[in-house]
Amino acid sequence: MNEQVNHSTLMTPRVEAMRQELALIASAPQDATRGLPGYFYTDQPYFEYECATVLKSGWHCVGRVDELAGIGDYITLSLLGEPLIIVHDQSGIKALSNVCRHRGMRLAEGSGNTRRFTCPYHAWMYSTDGTLLRAARMNNKGFDPKTCKLGEFACQTRYGFIYVCLNDTPHDLDKELTGLEKLIGAYEPENYRIVHSASEIWKTNWKCLVENFMEGYHLSVVHPETLHGYTPTGLSEKAASGDGFTSYYANYPKDIPYRGKGAPGLTDKARHRSTLFSIFPCQVTSIASSLLVTLMIRPLTAETIEVRWTMSAYGNELDEDTINQRIALWEDVNREDREKLEIMQSSFRSIHAIGGPLAGPDYEGTVHDFLLWLAKQDSHSN
Ligand code: FES
Ligand SMILES: [Fe+2]
Repeated sequence: MNEQVNHSTLMTPRVEAMRQELALIASAPQDATRGLPGYFYTDQPYFEYECATVLKSGWHCVGRVDELAGIGDYITLSLLGEPLIIVHDQSGIKALSNVCRHRGMRLAEGSGNTRRFTCPYHAWMYSTDGTLLRAARMNNKGFDPKTCKLGEFACQTRYGFIYVCLNDTPHDLDKELTGLEKLIGAYEPENYRIVHSASEIWKTNWKCLVENFMEGYHLSVVHPETLHGYTPTGLSEKAASGDGFTSYYANYPKDIPYRGKGAPGLTDKARHRSTLFSIFPCQVTSIASSLLVTLMIRPLTAETIEVRWTMSAYGNELDEDTINQRIALWEDVNREDREKLEIMQSSFRSIHAIGGPLAGPDYEGTVHDFLLWLAKQDSHSN
């Protein structure tokens, strides 16, 4: 099915009405912005429309470069139903289709290091660049192994993150990230080393977690013990946004010492805050002088997501005990957010979940940025 056919079959009158409503909500004046009504987070046909448009065309963070440090290192994942192998081939990091060209078996599971991928069904063997190397007993004259290379998707790395796009004609990632360098470059994000990763299934819509992570309005209320002491709501401050991202600063109170010097080029001010940014559609990240936490959101249905999160530390400044404390802290923070989002998800079918007024730029300006981006992408998918 080509993309054109795919879109038109998904464009029901209801989806069309919701697209127009999204455009209207996103165009609200800066001092009267609003959130989306509940059905934007529950409607399965609308979710399928999003999958075929804004999600399919987006760049998705799938991990950190140092997870695949050695040649032959690979991880597997499913992105919008597409099974992928992210592998460090001789020529760099690639996103291969994890679907055997014989009869469609998944080639690899989990993660590891390999020189070849051998299909567990009939043992076709592929190199790490996807070339079919061997297909036992395939003596029929009409068989040409050259036509059986594994599928491949666009894959790029920036700031130590690996990005994949499922579209044949991906957007210019650098254009989408213009302005991000000024925001996070001094932290040297590529020099953080991964210390932890975990995956969970949450009962929430993918947009809810983007919005939740990216607004400082809830910090003191939802995280009184875990975050309020360092990043109270009252010190939230809207920061830069660009074509494909938004951000805010979660500033620390003045009397609190910073937690690690981090990169040498950081200002004292930068050491006294966490910078939270989202690279749309599905990456949300907090970067501070010594710690980098990223949540990679993988939409599964309108009401469920897989969340893979990673924690990385700058250099060797933090000892093992401190790192373990930070992991435990972030487990608590994620649980606190998850509890709220899962309860909220169950309220979204109410006729009174009509989308309320948003707080000002420092508190929920990032949510409005996200809605603006969604509406802009949607207008392009026509
Ligand atoms: S499905 Fe892979 S070798 Fe048959
Ligand atoms: Fe939170």
